[in-house]
Amino acid sequence: MKNIMARPINVFSTKPSPLSTWVVILVLCILGFYAVYFPRSNAPFPTPLNSSNLQTLFLSTSSNSTIASYLRALTLHPHLAGTEPAADTTRYVLSHFTSLGLQTHTATYRALLSYPLSSSLTAHFSDGSSVDLPLTEPAGGPGVVQPYHAYSPSGSVQARVVFVNYGREKDYRELGVNVSGCIVIARKGGEFGRGAVVETAEKNGAAAVLIYGDGETWRNGFERGNVMRGIGDPLSPGWAGVEGGESLGLEDSEVLKRFPKIPSMPLSAEVADSILSSLGGAPVPLEWRGALRSKVSHVGPGPTVLNFTYQGEKKMATIQNVFAVIKGSEEPDRYVLLGNHRDAWTYGAVDPSSGTAALLDIARRYSILLGLGWKPRRTIILCSWDAEEFGMVGSTEWVEQNLINLGSKTVAYLNVDCAVQGPGFFVGSTPQLDSLILEVTKKVKDPDSEDVSVYESWAAADGGNNIQRLSGVDSDFASFVQHAGIPSIDIYYGRDFPVYHTAFDSYNWMAEHGDPFFQRHVAVTGVWGLLALHLADDSILPFNYVSYANELQLYNNRLSNLLDQKTSLHPLAMSIQEFAFAAKEADDELKKLRLQETADCSVDMRKRALNDRLMLVEKGFLDADGLQGRQWFKHLVFGPSSDHERLNFFPGISDSFTRSTSISEGERVAAIQHEVWRVSRAIHRAASALRGEFT
Ligand SMILES: *[C@@H]1O[C@H](CO)[C@@H](O)[C@H](O)[C@H]1NC(C)=O
Ligand SMILES: *[C@@H]1O[C@H](CO)[C@@H](O)[C@H](O)[C@H]1NC(C)=O
Ligand SMILES: *[C@@H]1O[C@H](CO)[C@@H](O)[C@H](O)[C@H]1NC(C)=O
Ligand SMILES: *[C@@H]1O[C@H](CO)[C@@H](O)[C@H](O)[C@H]1NC(C)=O
Repeated sequence: MKNIMARPINVFSTKPSPLSTWVVILVLCILGFYAVYFPRSNAPFPTPLNSSNLQTLFLSTSSNSTIASYLRALTLHPHLAGTEPAADTTRYVLSHFTSLGLQTHTATYRALLSYPLSSSLTAHFSDGSSVDLPLTEPAGGPGVVQPYHAYSPSGSVQARVVFVNYGREKDYRELGVNVSGCIVIARKGGEFGRGAVVETAEKNGAAAVLIYGDGETWRNGFERGNVMRGIGDPLSPGWAGVEGGESLGLEDSEVLKRFPKIPSMPLSAEVADSILSSLGGAPVPLEWRGALRSKVSHVGPGPTVLNFTYQGEKKMATIQNVFAVIKGSEEPDRYVLLGNHRDAWTYGAVDPSSGTAALLDIARRYSILLGLGWKPRRTIILCSWDAEEFGMVGSTEWVEQNLINLGSKTVAYLNVDCAVQGPGFFVGSTPQLDSLILEVTKKVKDPDSEDVSVYESWAAADGGNNIQRLSGVDSDFASFVQHAGIPSIDIYYGRDFPVYHTAFDSYNWMAEHGDPFFQRHVAVTGVWGLLALHLADDSILPFNYVSYANELQLYNNRLSNLLDQKTSLHPLAMSIQEFAFAAKEADDELKKLRLQETADCSVDMRKRALNDRLMLVEKGFLDADGLQGRQWFKHLVFGPSSDHERLNFFPGISDSFTRSTSISEGERVAAIQHEVWRVSRAIHRAASALRGEFT
C-alpha cells in the first residue's frame, strides 16, 4: 500500500540474549557430562525422557529476556496484512523456525482486504462555528495506517448527531429518538462488538456510525478494526481463496451481504468528547451514566451537525500462513496445533506480537528438547496466521482447505492471540479440556507473586477458576471450533487493554504497562507449551467428557429458565442424559487403560481406538446445515448468536427467539422447538461417537 506505507524497514536481527545463551551452555554441559559418564547409552539422555522430566526440562528453559528480544524485533515497524512490511515479518518468523532446524512450509492465499484512502470530519456547532476534527493519532509514526474500519463502504454524510450509548438494540429503545438519517456515535462496550454496533445502527436507519473507546487513559487513541459480517475471505465463502481458484464477484449477493451499507469510523475519546459535549435534546438516560466518562449530558439529535467523509478501497492481497512441523514418532498422523496470528493493525506489541513472541519461544524450547532426544508421540504444528484482523482470514482459508484432514486427525487446536494485555490469567476452551487446563496451570509459576502457581492466583481472582467458552468470533479459534469441530483452547493474560488496535500498542507500552518484566509472557508460554506436550505425548488423550456433560446440563437449566411451558426441553434433557452416561463409561475405560502402561501391541491398539473416539466427539455437535441464515457456522453448541446479547451457547436456539418475534405464536413455538430438536440430535451424535458403536 504505497499511499499508507513508508518504505519497508529491514532491521530484523536478534542477538541471542545472555540468559538463553546460559541455558544452552548449561544444557550442553549436562549432555557432555552424560556422554562421558554413560558412554554405552546411545540416547543422548541417560534415562528415557519421561513425561515428568520432559515437562520440568521445558519449564526450565524459559527466558523472559529472550521473549522480550523477539517482541522487540517483531514490533520495530507496523505489519498490516497484505503490505510490504508485513512480508518482512513473515520472513522473520520463517527464518526463526528454519534456524532451529524445524521443518517449515507456507500456505499462500489471495483474499479481499480493505485499506483507507482518505477521511475527514468537520463539526458545525449551533453558534455557527465549525472545526475540523483530527482523525490521526499523535503516536502514528511512519507506516502506521490511518484509523479506519476495514470493509466500511466509502461515503460522505452531513447530518445531525445522536449519542446511542453502546449502540445495542435496547439502547435505541431506551433512547426513543428517531435516528433515521443521523450520524450516531456509540461507545465501545463489553461484549457488543464493532460489527454488531454498525449492523444495529444500519437497522435503525442511521446514515453513518462513529465508534469510540470510552477508557480512562489513552483518550487520544483510535481503535481500528474490521466491520465485515461472517469470517474468512468474502470472495471465497466456504472454500480456500487460492490463486487461480473460484472467486466471487464484488457484486455477488453472497459478497454484498458481508459488508455494511453505511460508512463508519473509529473516533478517539477526545474527539468524541468535543462533539458529544455540544449535544442538545433529551438528557442522557440515567442507566447510561454509570460508567460513562465522556462529557455528554444530552443525546441529541444535534444541534451539532457533522460532515463525515470516508474513502477506502477493497483490493485483492496476498497473505501467507507460516508453519513449523515437529513430526510425531508413533502417531505421526495425529496432530496438535498451536496457532497465533502475525498481522497487526499497527506495531501490535500486545495484539498479536506478544503471542507471536511466545510462539517463537516455544519453538526455541521445543528444539532444545528435540536436541535431547525427545520425539513427540503425535505431530505438533506451530501455525502463524496472516490477516486475522480482517476477519480471521488466514486461519479460515486454511481450515476450509484442509477440512477433512483436520476434522479426522486433529487432536486439539491451542490458540494464543494477545498473549499479554496486563495482569491476570484468562482462558477459554471446549469443555473436554477443562481438567487438563486445571492440571497444567498448577505446574506453572505465577508471574506476579512468589511461590504461587498460575492455578492458585487464578483461583483467588474474581470468579475463581472460571473457564470461558469459545462462542465468539474474535480470534483464530473460531474456524477450528465453529466450522471444523475441533477441541480448542484460547489463553491470555490481562484483558481490555487501553491501547487496543491503536498506534500506542508498541513495545514501550508493553515494557511500561503490559508486562514490565516479561514474566507474564513466560507464564503464557509455560501453560501453552505444557498443554501441547500433554496432548502430543500422553498415550491416552487427556480429555474429560464428564465436564462437557455437566456444562451441557447447565445450559439446559439456563434455557429452561428462559422458556415458557410451550416449548418442551425433554428431547434435550434425554440427549444430555445419554451423553453423560457415555462420558462416564469412557472415563472408566480411560482410567483402566491408563494403568496398562505395557508396550503390548494390543493395548496400544485399544488406546488408539479410545483416542479416536475421544477426538471425534466434538464433530458430533456440527450440523451439515449449520445455523439458519449463517450456514458456514456448523457448531450447534458454541457459536455466535445473531442476538448478540442473549445466550453464549446453543446459537441456533438463541437465533430462533429473535427471528420469531415477527411471526404467529404457533409458528414461534414450532421454530424454537425445531431448534431444540436439532441440538438434541447433535448431542446424541456426539454421545454415539464417544461410545463408538452403531445403534
Ligand atoms: C521420570 O524419570 C525420572 C528420572 O529421570 C524418575 O525419577 C521419575 O520417577 C520418572 N517419572 C515417571 C512419571 O516415570
Ligand atoms: C423516522 O424518520 C424517517 C425519516 O424522517 C421516517 O421515514 C420514519 O418513518 C421515522 N420512523 C419512525 C418510527 O417514526
Ligand atoms: C463535507 O466534507 C467534504 C470533504 O471535506 C466536502 O467535499 C463536502 O463538500 C462537505 N459537504 C458539505 C455538505 O459541506
Ligand atoms: C527478567 O526477569 C528478571 C526477574 O524478574 C528481571 O530482573 C529482568 O529485568 C527481566 N528481564 C526483562 C527483559 O524484563
